[in-house]
Amino acid sequence: MKALVSKPHLLSRVATLALGKTIGGPAAEFTDVPEPTISPNEILVKVRAVALNPTDHMHIDVISPPGSTIGCDYAGEVAKVGGNAVKAWSVGDRVAGVVHGGLVPGRGAFAEYLKIDSDLAWKVPDDVDDAAAATFGVSAATAMLALNCRLGLPYPGEEQDIRRQQTAPAIFIYAGSTAAGLFTIQTAKLAGYTVVTTASPHSTDLVKSYGADAVFDYHDPDVATAITKQYPDISIAVDCFSKGKSFGISDEVLKNSKGKLITLLQPPKPKYPGVEHELILAYTLFGHAFQWLPPVGPKWPALPDDRKALARFYATLPQLVGSKKLRAPPVLLEEGGWNGILTGLDKLRAGKVSGGKIVVKL
Ligand SMILES: NC(=O)c1ccc[n+]([C@@H]2O[C@H](COP(=O)([O-])OP(=O)(O)OC[C@H]3O[C@@H](n4cnc5c(N)ncnc54)[C@H](OP(=O)(O)O)[C@@H]3O)[C@@H](O)[C@H]2O)c1
Repeated sequence: MKALVSKPHLLSRVATLALGKTIGGPAAEFTDVPEPTISPNEILVKVRAVALNPTDHMHIDVISPPGSTIGCDYAGEVAKVGGNAVKAWSVGDRVAGVVHGGLVPGRGAFAEYLKIDSDLAWKVPDDVDDAAAATFGVSAATAMLALNCRLGLPYPGEEQDIRRQQTAPAIFIYAGSTAAGLFTIQTAKLAGYTVVTTASPHSTDLVKSYGADAVFDYHDPDVATAITKQYPDISIAVDCFSKGKSFGISDEVLKNSKGKLITLLQPPKPKYPGVEHELILAYTLFGHAFQWLPPVGPKWPALPDDRKALARFYATLPQLVGSKKLRAPPVLLEEGGWNGILTGLDKLRAGKVSGGKIVVKL
């Protein structure tokens, strides 16, 4: 079958790390590889649409060992069902989700077929098309990991307790118009929180339409002061951009209450005593230990509770999506079939994506 597979590219990796830009063309190419064989707990999926994430090009450019299948987010159709999964799945069911792409051969979404544990995928309702379904991968799972697993907000469907409080507590979500941000806003609203976020002026209506209560322009050099003037007691935040000035702005917002910030990329030390930073990675949701750039790169332990959380999230997602409680971000369709994956990733690399999720139909 056809798949996007990483190439040996040590020099280009070093250059990417040192210069911050890719040289020598993409370090992945479309290759014929064996169709994955499934275990009794897995299903085989015929991939119909994929959504693109910054992590995909970060894997191609720096992280992936040669021979790894790239890509995480997918929607498609069940093609084979493992013996232990026959109660939950049938051949022909519509399915979507996320895989740990870019780490090993044979497990990645940018392929004709992929395999996934049968409880780590969700059944797509009839009225949701493949393109929209494919967006509920890395970004949606990351919002759940940040809010429900790490910050302890009630899971969607368990929001009653907090709604009984008279004043909804506030949460700060830096970069609400990122795909991760749009899911984080919605998940925080479902938990009953007042959402304070940042976005460009051109994204203000978008983030409000996904539930943001207050929106501040991150280009304003005094944005943190403007936020703390109106919301002086915010104690939890998620930084859905996690680069450059984002950490400092979030620290400023959390300074008064010595709060906790969840970051999606490696943060610097907090600017103020008492403020806490915690880096999360969507990949821990698969429940296995892994390492990037062995033998020297960072290692992550197996976190079985994260895996349970992803299974729980995907079990409830058909109802959440069907009832429109959780909506896909705007879909930015990239034409060109397989080649659309490469052109779409170039747009993400260049920071040219705003207010939506690039999806490619295969
Ligand atoms: N740790 C994890 O597991 C994990 C998971 C998902 C994502 N991430 C990381 O989180 C980040 C967001 O990913 P994504 O896929 O959600 O991004 P995305 O949708 O591709 O982000 C595009 C958005 O970034 C916003 N933006 C650009 N420059 C900004 C700045 N200086 N400050 C604030 N916002 C800015 C733009 O907002 P405006 O148009 O409104 O300016 C645009 O809408 C990436 O760095 C990604 O690698 C990590």
